[in-house]
Amino acid sequence: MKNIVVLISGRGSNMISIAQACLSQCWPARIAAVISNRPQAAGLAAARALGLPVEVEDSAGRTDREAYDADLARRIDAHSPDLVLLAGYMRILTPAFVDRFAGRLLNIHPSLLPSFPGLDTHRRALEAGVKVHGATVHLVTAELDSGPILAQAAVPVMPGDDEDALSARVLEAEHAIYPMAVRWMIDERVEVRGRTVRLRDPGPGETGLL
Ligand code: GAR
Repeated sequence: MKNIVVLISGRGSNMISIAQACLSQCWPARIAAVISNRPQAAGLAAARALGLPVEVEDSAGRTDREAYDADLARRIDAHSPDLVLLAGYMRILTPAFVDRFAGRLLNIHPSLLPSFPGLDTHRRALEAGVKVHGATVHLVTAELDSGPILAQAAVPVMPGDDEDALSARVLEAEHAIYPMAVRWMIDERVEVRGRTVRLRDPGPGETGLL
């Protein structure tokens, strides 16, 4: 049984999609903890409602990022995690934290990377006039939103879209690719060479693109 720790800052819908896939598909894994840096994160109540153990490492007023990340890492390590998932975790991680969990630290980002790293991805996609937008699951490296890509989902940008409409369409795609990529990691099917990710024994349609 593999241990998964999920880090959230807000609503937690990606955490929920992974927890539900884990339970309904009987993954050989369990969510050992959902940890939020914000005590008021709505995702904490959602996790409790699913019966998941929740913890808070409050980041309010913690200006020393190294010290905060060291405390967070100790909290995560207590669960001997095989995977640490960033699911709407909105803090930039220190290199020491990324190093500690290298190879088992995943993020979901709401754009087709390398387009639109950072924040406000939907607003920037609309401003750029792109016709295709989407989401990316990647391994986390020290450079922001730049690690090896496991999976991407593309969605159309429709005439008349505003940020809310576009983000809702992307979020639905996120809920499809994040559990899929996590399952690949659980099953140890992911081979990383430099920036390239290869899936072992891919089945029909398992291209990493939805
Ligand atoms: C998601 O859209 C996720 O891709 C994004 O925050 C949202 C969290 O939603 N993450 C980032 O922007 C990371 N830089 P959720 O809390 O409902 O999963």
